[in-house]
Amino acid sequence: MTSIDYSERIPNNVNLSEDRRLQRALENWQPRFQSWWGEMGPAGFQENEVYLRTAIDVGQAGWADFGHVEMPDYRWGIFLGEQQPDRTIGFGDMKGQPVWQEVPGEFRTDLRRLIVVQGDTEPASVEQQRFLGKTAPSLYDLRNLFQVNVEEGRHLWAMVYLLHRYFGRDGRDEADAMLERHSGDADQPRILGAFNEETSDWLSFFMFTYFTDRDGKYQLGALKESAFDPLSRTCDFMLKEEAHHMFVGASGVGRVVERTAQLMNQHGTDDIAAHGGINLDTLQRYINFHYSVSLDLFGSERSTNAANYYAAGLKGRFGEEGYDDDHVLNDVEATYTSVVDGKIATEQMSARALVNLELRSEYSVDCAKGLKRWNRMLSEMGVDVELRLPDTGFNRQVGAFAGHHVSPDGQLISEAEWDANVANWLPTDAERKHVGSLMTPVYEPGKMASWIAPPSRGINTKPVEYDYVRL
Ligand SMILES: [Fe+2]
Ligand SMILES: [Fe+2]
Repeated sequence: MTSIDYSERIPNNVNLSEDRRLQRALENWQPRFQSWWGEMGPAGFQENEVYLRTAIDVGQAGWADFGHVEMPDYRWGIFLGEQQPDRTIGFGDMKGQPVWQEVPGEFRTDLRRLIVVQGDTEPASVEQQRFLGKTAPSLYDLRNLFQVNVEEGRHLWAMVYLLHRYFGRDGRDEADAMLERHSGDADQPRILGAFNEETSDWLSFFMFTYFTDRDGKYQLGALKESAFDPLSRTCDFMLKEEAHHMFVGASGVGRVVERTAQLMNQHGTDDIAAHGGINLDTLQRYINFHYSVSLDLFGSERSTNAANYYAAGLKGRFGEEGYDDDHVLNDVEATYTSVVDGKIATEQMSARALVNLELRSEYSVDCAKGLKRWNRMLSEMGVDVELRLPDTGFNRQVGAFAGHHVSPDGQLISEAEWDANVANWLPTDAERKHVGSLMTPVYEPGKMASWIAPPSRGINTKPVEYDYVRL
């Protein structure tokens, strides 16, 4: 069951050839996906060989194969994680009952919505990143960008398979709509706000893969708990691919921090803009921006929908099994923070109503780990500055703090105070322009742009100076 059949037009480990109708429907969608890739995928480089990994097995050990391929020849396919025999529902009102192999009628609309919202983010990020190849800081980074892009394309396949296989006509329509909405499109935008923002420079790309792909990790982790077993198995394998995307973000930002500290030491100044670097306060403002827009992706802290999804077993908490409670949450309380009468106030309420907040809180703990590593590096290099995550109320468009102004250190402030300080807290046009001006491509194997340190090692035991993309 786990090995992947590459002799098929659509590689898969779901015995696609045994379901002719489904196979035909997906083979019909395939050329549309390919023309979307051609039009909205990476601009240029489609005829260059890229050193990519391809999934060959979904098991724990050695699931990937590495080799030079042209991106349009990448074998996008349908790979589900291994089925666990006798798996039971891990949380909610039906906890302990067997999981579902088909969609129960009463949860059809909710499950379809969850799959569509997740699926829509996958091609969106490819669209957001489509011009970055033209300004890559190294061949190594160019390859990593394309690896992330082809795998986000595969994640779309993962969700489209579920829609086609389990949701009939509506599912097929939703699969078509995935290729009709586009990031930033005025008429047909992507569903979630952060996926309509432009990823215009490589610092944004590294921040995006650190903060926004990490939201993906938490959403997929919550869906992996689902009572709908095919969704759970799909997310299980997507999470394995996702780990590399977060590595790209964490190591990418880390390399920028390292280079910044080097330039500060070398020139004896905090302001290294004139020396081809990115200042630490610019990095802080990029962190503030990408973290706060990624927090919005978790939805309202207090949510009836999320409570219903939890009760029904559709979407759990991240690592549900690890929670030391009853996994039903009817009699469990949690703390909700919001603005009441112009003040930040807390109240206790049902933990079920706050599962979005719980997922987001775990995400914040995970985000903080990278900052700790970067700060350790700064201190080891003799730079006495700490990067920080802003307060979760800062710069929010969704949830309890939408419509209020909160400073990065968590104070509720007036609009006038916000306006007077926002240039200290969020990237300014001038610094985005400066970062943009540093984005000149470096395509010589092993060479790096001025603003970023080399990685500590290459990909899959290859050296850093390997020809990861053949130009
Ligand atoms: Fe993804
Ligand atoms: Fe990703």
